[in-house]
Amino acid sequence: MLFMPICKDFLWGGATAANQIEGGWQEGGKGPSEADMLSAGTHTSPRQITPDTEPGLTYPNRTASDFYHHYKEDIALMGEMGFKAYRMSIAWSRIFPTGEETEPNPAGLQFYDDVFDELKAHGIEPIVTLSHYEMPLHLVNKYNGWASREVIALFERYARTVIAHFKGKVRYYLTFNEINCGTLPLGNYMSLGIRNEGTRDFLHQVDDVQVRYQALHHQLVASARTVLAGHELDPEAKIGNMIAMMPVYPLTCNPKDMLEFQQNWRQFNWYCADVQCRGAYPYYAQSFWEKNGIHLEITDEDREALRRGTVDFFSLSYYQTNCVTVDPNAAQASGNLLGGAKNPYLESSQWGWQVDPDGLRYTLNEIESRYDLPIIIVENGLGARDALEADGSIHDPYRIDYLQRHIRAMKQAVEEDGVDLFGYTMWGCIDLVSASTGEMAKRYGFIYVDCDDQGHGSFKRYKKDSFDWYRKVIETNGEEL
Ligand code: BG6
Repeated sequence: MLFMPICKDFLWGGATAANQIEGGWQEGGKGPSEADMLSAGTHTSPRQITPDTEPGLTYPNRTASDFYHHYKEDIALMGEMGFKAYRMSIAWSRIFPTGEETEPNPAGLQFYDDVFDELKAHGIEPIVTLSHYEMPLHLVNKYNGWASREVIALFERYARTVIAHFKGKVRYYLTFNEINCGTLPLGNYMSLGIRNEGTRDFLHQVDDVQVRYQALHHQLVASARTVLAGHELDPEAKIGNMIAMMPVYPLTCNPKDMLEFQQNWRQFNWYCADVQCRGAYPYYAQSFWEKNGIHLEITDEDREALRRGTVDFFSLSYYQTNCVTVDPNAAQASGNLLGGAKNPYLESSQWGWQVDPDGLRYTLNEIESRYDLPIIIVENGLGARDALEADGSIHDPYRIDYLQRHIRAMKQAVEEDGVDLFGYTMWGCIDLVSASTGEMAKRYGFIYVDCDDQGHGSFKRYKKDSFDWYRKVIETNGEEL
């Protein structure tokens, strides 16, 4: 072994997002959020994006896994697995119900105070995402979400309120979940709160590339301003970005495929990460803007914020890889946010995502060599159908296999390659609503939640076989997989 083994204070744990787990959408003074207006969908029928509640549709994020009422039990289960960290998000609309109030909602702050106290009682470190695919619905309706520059200041007020209030309780923050989702048309509503005239559902979103990239710029500026504000308000706080790593390989050694590969990494993985880690747009952004007729309004203040507000660490999600090619007839595969050409060497999950543990090792090395920042994996996992047996057991060897292979690859990146990694929080440690399809049936958890796609069920929690397996992994600091 060339390098040090996984460090003894490595942050093993799990991850969720408020809109996908909490429920209680109208409790404790919470305002409606954009996620509350997303209907249930499936792998083949897209989620509807409705301006208001539409009769006949189900809105799964409103009830989700009912963490709002089960958080004590859920955190106790995390404690039983030995979690060192729990990545969660705060719902902006619990703190500022419309996003425009000048004073925060005390009941919203209290809810998260209670959650953080409970985590502390179990020795679990919170890692808090400030915005995980949600914003107050009012801001979508009034400003078309991040398309408006005004939202930067509103977000900054929210971020400042949260960081000041939870000083001493929260040490790690992430600004925007998978901020690079905004480089894709899919990101319009979910990531940027943009609902252009004519948008109907996830697959039929009216995309205006100029509006979308300007909105993404506003988010990048808000992220940088949050880093600056966070350091000023709480010098102990560490603030990171969050990038959905969507790695691709060239399908063939045709040099044209290689150029496709390079362009793809830049456009989808590095465009935002370069800004957040290096403090300025990269040189290739200019030609991308020109080719796509994008004219960004970037003020001197924006440039200054981006320059000074670089992140303290790099966080990523990783699920699968795809290939790219100039061959228009290549077979296609789907994926997290972005599909691509099918890789003949890989198998796919039940939802068609290609499983690739070596791709994680490759990706971690790419990030390390590009930015030289501490890294944390804040999402990785397998969405699969689980069967609850009559005796309350759930046998999920497929999930154990997926996680085992990815953790092994992660360890190789650290122990053999020297990547500076300080944590791993598996995605969806408790079953929750799928972001892309709105299904409960696409389960990720170590803990099963008895609830179906229509939001019906007892919401009782059951341990899957993977629960004890992960407890062992943490107990042995990844030695026993
Ligand atoms: C990530 C998101 O893209 O992937 C999560 O940050 C999401 O919110 C996760 O749930 C898994 O995707 P899905 O579509 O299976 O829920």
